[in-house]
Amino acid sequence: MATEIEQMRTLPEAGDHYAVEEIDGIELIDKLATLGISAADVKKAKDAGYHTVRSLLMSPKKHLWNIKGLSEAKVDKMLDAARKLSGEVVFITGGQLLELKRSVLKITTGCQAIDALVGGIETQCVTEVYGEFKTGKTQLCSTVCVTTQLPTESGGGAGKVCYIDTEGSFRPERIAPIAERYALSPDEVLNNIVYARAHTSDNQMDLINMTAGLFAEEPFRLLVIDSISALFRVDYVGRGELAERQQKLGAMMSKLKKLAEEYNIAVLLTNQVMADPSGQMFVADPKKHVGGHIMSHASTCRFMTRKGKGDTRVLKVIQHPSVGESEAVFQITNGGIIDAED
Ligand code: GTP
Ligand code: MG
Repeated sequence: MATEIEQMRTLPEAGDHYAVEEIDGIELIDKLATLGISAADVKKAKDAGYHTVRSLLMSPKKHLWNIKGLSEAKVDKMLDAARKLSGEVVFITGGQLLELKRSVLKITTGCQAIDALVGGIETQCVTEVYGEFKTGKTQLCSTVCVTTQLPTESGGGAGKVCYIDTEGSFRPERIAPIAERYALSPDEVLNNIVYARAHTSDNQMDLINMTAGLFAEEPFRLLVIDSISALFRVDYVGRGELAERQQKLGAMMSKLKKLAEEYNIAVLLTNQVMADPSGQMFVADPKKHVGGHIMSHASTCRFMTRKGKGDTRVLKVIQHPSVGESEAVFQITNGGIIDAED
């Protein structure tokens, strides 16, 4: 599995319609060596998915104690060094907070009606799109995979994309016509998408942990997980395993939230609303998304998709920090999602 991501990273470097600049404000964990932490210990932390100084400071100590080969004393020493490197900044001013919020990018969805409602898919934020099958969730993800690569002045994020596919529903051949719609080179756009297929929920978590290694090295702006819950539904069956499933899903969501904030990345998740055939297991109300309140608390923005009149689809804003319940109509085309014609 490690090799899966490694292989992808050996893909030819795509052209430079986005700027590959230094990633601002990210202090890599390697710097701890300058404060007396051994390279071997730094490597142990990296192998466990910690690539930046901030990722150490954002994690509960009990998680760091689980890093193979690091004693509690070593973890404490590492944290001391991390605090020194980060300048011991704990409180920031309201002005600094505003500055941080200004670095949030809103990536166009390809549909002006949706953008007019919510501004786009935001970085530093976890967005969940849930809905019944064939309502356009995967098509929205594919469109945003392309628009993320547009320059920021064109509503993009000028960055690369990481795509974790749990259902095998990603269609690379769908990307070319969307890229053409935006006058981008299909080959470049495809090469800027790093893809991994997850086969179990544990595998999905491992892949998410590995993304930090990618994000620390290059300007990524989008992480898609399509779908967040499908494998959990397979791996955890029945009421007896519900608590464990929710706990694992909660830990995954918390990790995703941290990644979004730490690397200024938009995390876009899809989720299903299918009713359980036995009608009693996970989903009491068939219009509810899988994962229930764990998902509701952990995602900042939640949208629901459904079929509309004719060929149209409707996106309903369920939860958003600055927008109330509202709806926009869209349509699925070869060039990705667009405004509905009428
Ligand atoms: P599940 O993953 O099954 O839950 O569904 P979903 O919500 O992800 O649906 P998806 O985004 O895959 O949308 C499926 C719809 O998009 C179908 O109605 C297809 O007809 C339509 N669609 C898929 N590809 C194309 C395309 O290339 N052109 C057009 N015009 N429509 C497409
Ligand atoms: Mg889908």
